[in-house]
Amino acid sequence: MCGIVAYVGPRDAVPILMEGLTRLEYRGYDSAGLAVIGRSGDLRVRKAKGRVADLAAALPARFKGRTGIGHTRWATHGEPSDVNAHPHVSGPVAVVHNGIIENADELRAELEADGVALASQTDSEVLAHLIARSEAAELEDAVRDALSQVVGTYGIAVVDTRHPDTLVVARNGSPVVLGIGEKEMFAASDIAALVRYTRQVVHLDDGELATVRADGFRTSTLDARATSKKPSVIETDEAAYDAEGYTHFMRKEIYEQPAAVERALGGRLDDRFHTAHLGGLNLDPREARGVRRVKILGCGSAYYAGQMGAQLIEELARIPADAEPASEFRYRNPVVEPDTLYIAVSQSGETYDTLVAVQELRRKGGRVLGVVNAVGSAIARECDGGVYLHAGPEIAVASTKAFTSTAVVFALLALHLGRIRDLSPADGRRICAGLRALPGQIAEILRQEDEIAALAADLATYRSMLFIGRVRGWPIAREGAQKLKEVSYVHAEAYPASELKHGPLALVSPELPTVAVVPDDELRDKNLSTLGEIRARRGRVITVGHQELGDDSLTVPKNEPELDPILLTIPLQLLAYHAAAALGHDVDKPRNLAKSVTVE
Ligand code: AGP
Repeated sequence: MCGIVAYVGPRDAVPILMEGLTRLEYRGYDSAGLAVIGRSGDLRVRKAKGRVADLAAALPARFKGRTGIGHTRWATHGEPSDVNAHPHVSGPVAVVHNGIIENADELRAELEADGVALASQTDSEVLAHLIARSEAAELEDAVRDALSQVVGTYGIAVVDTRHPDTLVVARNGSPVVLGIGEKEMFAASDIAALVRYTRQVVHLDDGELATVRADGFRTSTLDARATSKKPSVIETDEAAYDAEGYTHFMRKEIYEQPAAVERALGGRLDDRFHTAHLGGLNLDPREARGVRRVKILGCGSAYYAGQMGAQLIEELARIPADAEPASEFRYRNPVVEPDTLYIAVSQSGETYDTLVAVQELRRKGGRVLGVVNAVGSAIARECDGGVYLHAGPEIAVASTKAFTSTAVVFALLALHLGRIRDLSPADGRRICAGLRALPGQIAEILRQEDEIAALAADLATYRSMLFIGRVRGWPIAREGAQKLKEVSYVHAEAYPASELKHGPLALVSPELPTVAVVPDDELRDKNLSTLGEIRARRGRVITVGHQELGDDSLTVPKNEPELDPILLTIPLQLLAYHAAAALGHDVDKPRNLAKSVTVE
């Protein structure tokens, strides 16, 4: 949600910043801007409403500089417009900001009372004025002065024409990472903007600032105590940030699932004891046996994957488990129990609601594990232990490979907990074999893409759709509906199939198709009765299961009943993708959304 990139060094900053903004555009795409310090020491700023391409079109040919900052925005305060786009400027100072300044209204009023004319409606602009008004000689101290007046979250990058060879960046709740080059330095909110230039990075901690010059950096806390940071090497592959010939990142990431699932399983299955080893759990067998309940927290698709996880844990380990939106949990003064294991799920590891839920739990003494994709992210660092997905960077706003990888990690965790408790070796062996079969079976489903695309183009003509599923099929129905509405904007509502006749059956008509998740499990007959009720009311039914159950049937290969939901998800991802593509939508950048919701 919003992207920051910054550069200081001998090269022209503009192409580097523009390249970084293009890589960060998935995080926010309603406006973009740049500020660079030109060779004559002047501040040059360009901003444009719309995409990074609109900013590129607005840049004059001779727009160059050696130190600069850039930003791509997802609006929170003030509508998307040229003036509300970042950087915000006050005299010699320009600032880009991710996050929310909570006391912006008071600060704006104080600045206005002092005669400062505010140009934008944003909370971020106050930072530029506060820094410019500081009497500190060093830019770092001026930034520190300004931040001491601010309440809220931020990742910021600042340039000042009085210090033309210096960048200052700071972090509190919104990530900032430094990239170390050869006699040049980079900074960004996300390594996506850096991988093209360097593999050596330094992650700032909350409450930390860095003064960055071409030949190095120094870090300190907000109260001016020096900190010592060691660079780490990013192992990610640059190609992971390219669409590599695919029409969209969403389609590429759907196709990456066999490999992502292989990586999630990599080295974690134990054929001797028919269990799973998860190195980072920090939970010994005795502690694992003491767990009386599991509570899983996440937002959006991460929550639905958590719901799948709760079912897996309850089925395989026989520990009562449930999932709850982290965004609700954090506000309801939850009762935190000592023998409950809390698990936070997040692809980005940055989702603010999930992060605050984790912090609230830790504050109350709860034990929290993370199931996270982004290595070293805020949520991963905040937890007592956890499991990484190793799905690789997910760029499309609509989560696909992270969703399936999360479900696979939960299957591993459920197997691990189950084998410490009462899951038999035979059942352990059965689940291990099922997990190993998943990548090949996902690849088999992907081969049906043409058939699914034709059905999706037909379904895209409807205004609304119902998604239903029972028990294991229920989170799949929810995720299917979420995917469809996110990218195609076709209204989609998910219900447990068992709840249909308690209300939503009233909606069923020839104008409202129903997508039904109908695996060959012990609830198949119940599901078939529900389909009969829909068809009796002339509702069109599309089934996703193991058998042809009518004209519109999508089938997947059979795995173990506990793992089947992972496969049943894949056709629904393709259905959503192709419905959106058929409607001509910008699939990777759906309206009103952005990747990683780092604000409340
Ligand atoms: C998924 O398609 C959505 N874009 C969204 O629901 C997402 O899963 C949610 O915001 C949580 O993100 P996280 O996994 O990065 O925490």
